[in-house]
Amino acid sequence: MDIVLVGLPGSGKTEVGRRLAARSGGTFIDTDREIERAAGRSIEAIFRSDGEAGFRALERATIEALGPAAADAPGAGDHAAARVIATGAGAVVDPRNRWRLADGRRAFWLDAPGARLAERLERSPTVRPLLAEGDLATGLERLRHHRERFYAAAERVDADGPPGVAVEAIEERLRGGHMAGGVTLLRAGLAIGRVVLGVGVAAAEIDAELRRAGARRAVIVTEPGARAAVGRGLEAALASRGWTLEVVELPQGEAAKRLSIIETAAGELARVRVERDEPIVAIGGGALTDAAGFLAATYQRGIPWLAVPTTMLGQLDAALGGKTAVDIDAGKNLVGAFHLPSAVIVDPDLLAPLPVRDRRAGLAEAVKDGVLGDERLLEVLQADGAAIAAGHRTAEPSALAEVIERAAWLKLSLVESDPLERGDRMALNLGHTLGHAIEAAAGFGPLLHGEAVAYGLRAAARLGVRLGSTPAERAERIESMLDTLSLAIDPLPYPLDEVLDVLATDKKRRGGVLRWVLPTAGAWTVADGVPEALVREVASGVLAGRPVDAAARP
Ligand SMILES: NC(=O)c1ccc[n+]([C@@H]2O[C@H](COP(=O)([O-])OP(=O)(O)OC[C@H]3O[C@@H](n4cnc5c(N)ncnc54)[C@H](O)[C@@H]3O)[C@@H](O)[C@H]2O)c1
Repeated sequence: MDIVLVGLPGSGKTEVGRRLAARSGGTFIDTDREIERAAGRSIEAIFRSDGEAGFRALERATIEALGPAAADAPGAGDHAAARVIATGAGAVVDPRNRWRLADGRRAFWLDAPGARLAERLERSPTVRPLLAEGDLATGLERLRHHRERFYAAAERVDADGPPGVAVEAIEERLRGGHMAGGVTLLRAGLAIGRVVLGVGVAAAEIDAELRRAGARRAVIVTEPGARAAVGRGLEAALASRGWTLEVVELPQGEAAKRLSIIETAAGELARVRVERDEPIVAIGGGALTDAAGFLAATYQRGIPWLAVPTTMLGQLDAALGGKTAVDIDAGKNLVGAFHLPSAVIVDPDLLAPLPVRDRRAGLAEAVKDGVLGDERLLEVLQADGAAIAAGHRTAEPSALAEVIERAAWLKLSLVESDPLERGDRMALNLGHTLGHAIEAAAGFGPLLHGEAVAYGLRAAARLGVRLGSTPAERAERIESMLDTLSLAIDPLPYPLDEVLDVLATDKKRRGGVLRWVLPTAGAWTVADGVPEALVREVASGVLAGRPVDAAARP
């Protein structure tokens, strides 16, 4: 088995790694030394000549060259380390590195307080390019803030004391337990709740969250589609971990989002005597987490809930951010509450049975997130988006997880800075102004949410160009990305005037101002008072579909 050590500079990865390898008879690999050997230069020299980007490219290649995790030697116990790999402190920032380091390997995070790290680094002769300027302890705090969610995906080991103590703590863990299945990629403790992202980790993480909450049993709220696809498997896994289950089934799809359904479900919770501090576990797509979240917000004036999204849209958007709602005859999502889940468990493995149409539609929100400010997300979508939508294997097995991580993180950052949607969170409405109007004109059903948003994204890009906010190349990038994903291509049969009527109603509802979020060169801006004639012209063009020669369909 391979052991991986991650952590901030000064956490002792090299020393602990050497000792671990020596004691188990394994090989010690320090990725920074491997990079220097391959490049024939010091890391400091690589940073000087090629910058951080050059160094990161070498680092990625070095981690890739580790190959698959070493198999256990015949007869060796689970705790015999074949290789001990110490990584550079920033290696985990790249999701692909994290995947490679965690897949089949057991990763430990050497954690120590900033002051201790600073004290060790002050004694060290090694130059750390990213910490070269300013106060060391402050620099370390900054790094911790940016990277803790990546380190915390590994098992935490206290590294405040001498290296021997950390070595023993790791050996103790290795003796004590087998490697957990799955690949944990991110674990963030945010003010808006915990978020765990990992492939094949859902059951273990639900179990851990229920234990953390001191739950007596697992009260699951789900719906038949998600239950048949993945829910029963999770239920069986929870039962095998000793949990008694109570399952409340809501109807499938949008039909779950009705007040009458919430009333019946609340009656079920009362019947099985769910108490005020008892969490419910919502397992399903965006409609289910909207409804179950609203149930949690209102049952006994609010109980805790965990979200386990099972659709693409749910994982990178709907289950994050605490907006819960049901529909009434007067409109979709008109009754709801902000009620943050205590944790969101995002497991891309749960998407395996999802139909292609739902995968593709969910990716429209990822395109939106990329346009709002993550160029790398756009690159991954360009390279792997079509394969991800089709449910095919991608050249990089971690591509799907990277798309979800990046899109989800963009949303979470905006939600964290503006939980009640009073400012920057409105950026997330990019593509939703016309998208929502099209969805409403279609009668909420024929078009999936993401499909409608994709038309809205084209409209925002075209309006942005006409209003001078969106450079033409940026608009073209957005359009070609949607072409690659086969989104918003077909002409739509909904009458233009009906779509514009919905926009006019929205405008009335928002005090006479319709605010459009528009793309800029690498971010977004807001435009008020967009001339109605221009909206009509652009909406009409979008509804007409994409000319077939422009959209080279995959
Ligand atoms: N709260 C928010 O911030 C927010 C944001 C965006 C969208 N939404 C809401 O999300 C809803 C749409 O979400 P959705 O597209 O996930 O719809 P959904 O929940 O209706 O799921 C779509 C379909 O997929 C099935 N399904 C679920 N998981 C599956 C799996 N793993 N494999 C196979 N099939 C599976 C479901 O049974 C359903 O038939 C809308 O109600 C929308 O208003 C909410």
